[in-house]
Amino acid sequence: MLLDVRDLEVEFRTRDGVAKAVNGVNYSVEAGQTLAVLGESGSGKSVTAQAVMGILDMPPGRITGGQILFQGQDLLTLKEEERRRIRGAKMAMIFQDALSSLNPVLSVGAQLGEMFEVHRGLSRKDARTKAVELMDRVRIPAAKDRVGDYPHQFSGGMRQRVMIAMALALEPDLIIADEPTTALDVTVQAQVMDLLAELQRELDMGLILITHDLGVVADVADKIAVMYAGRIVENAPVHEIYKAPAHPYTRGLLDSIPRLDQKGQELYAIKGLPPNLMNIPPGCAFNPRCPLARDMCRTDVPPLYEVSESRTSACHFWQEALHA
Ligand SMILES: Nc1ncnc2c1ncn2[C@@H]1O[C@H](COP(=O)(O)OP(=O)(O)O)[C@@H](O)[C@H]1O
Ligand code: SF4
Ligand SMILES: [Mg+2]
Repeated sequence: MLLDVRDLEVEFRTRDGVAKAVNGVNYSVEAGQTLAVLGESGSGKSVTAQAVMGILDMPPGRITGGQILFQGQDLLTLKEEERRRIRGAKMAMIFQDALSSLNPVLSVGAQLGEMFEVHRGLSRKDARTKAVELMDRVRIPAAKDRVGDYPHQFSGGMRQRVMIAMALALEPDLIIADEPTTALDVTVQAQVMDLLAELQRELDMGLILITHDLGVVADVADKIAVMYAGRIVENAPVHEIYKAPAHPYTRGLLDSIPRLDQKGQELYAIKGLPPNLMNIPPGCAFNPRCPLARDMCRTDVPPLYEVSESRTSACHFWQEALHA
């Protein structure tokens, strides 16, 4: 197993109280596999990813439980220096907003080249050659002429390609892409997603694709982890989830796949709002919004029930959900 997150818990201590952002997350990715992590905003997708990458904002964030096994080693037991070595070289992250992730005063070529100078000890000239190769690889047209350009001189889609190039530079084993196309136009979204999926296959990397858009994952993901209020509510191979979700929340997400003309909008079909993380409802956190909810749901937290060998659901009535 490339990455195995077990019972991860993260909270944020703020002046207003303790926000329980991650409440026992379990998911895993194998080499060459794509895991899509789905859920409305505020469900803890990014915080989980930041904990995996070791870039969590601490304080106010705090990891209060669990393990993050990467290639068999629990990252939470490593020293910061060891974490830093893994970050970049073995795992890399792609963010939603390239403009604020890239350095505005350094050319794209200099930023890409720096990866090779610092981590691989290449000369500036060789690093520059590598930078052009990478830009070609992510299909930025006229890479040789554009290597000296600054981030703001690129379009949104091209900038996102630059960030993918940065993430790929050291050929990591795992890439985490956090809503990598959300800020882009619909047509550009598809191109960037196709590129990412293609590179993932070519380089046989593990990919965690975080998104609130179920529409984009059908073609690229092997399996799906659905998050709600800081927990995984369903884990399943992608084709099984599309055939029949085993959790009412997943069902709600499927029913609210945004149409092309509404791209970029938040999900709308599930009634109500996700809970305040400082005050998560007792029992199943989804119960105030769930069409199948009954008394037991308001008192007993559902464990992850085994639906099949490759599938789990945190719903007491998953059989009912499955056949709904
Ligand atoms: N830096 C922070 N300080 C305080 N609370 C935070 C911080 N980052 C995240 N949170 C809390 O964690 C929750 C989950 O955030 P996040 O993982 O970013 O959600 P998403 O699923 O949209 O990626 C937020 O709603 C917020 O309550
Ligand atoms: S446990 Fe109850 S409230 Fe939660 S999803 Fe299942 S039926 Fe709905
Ligand atoms: Mg997020």
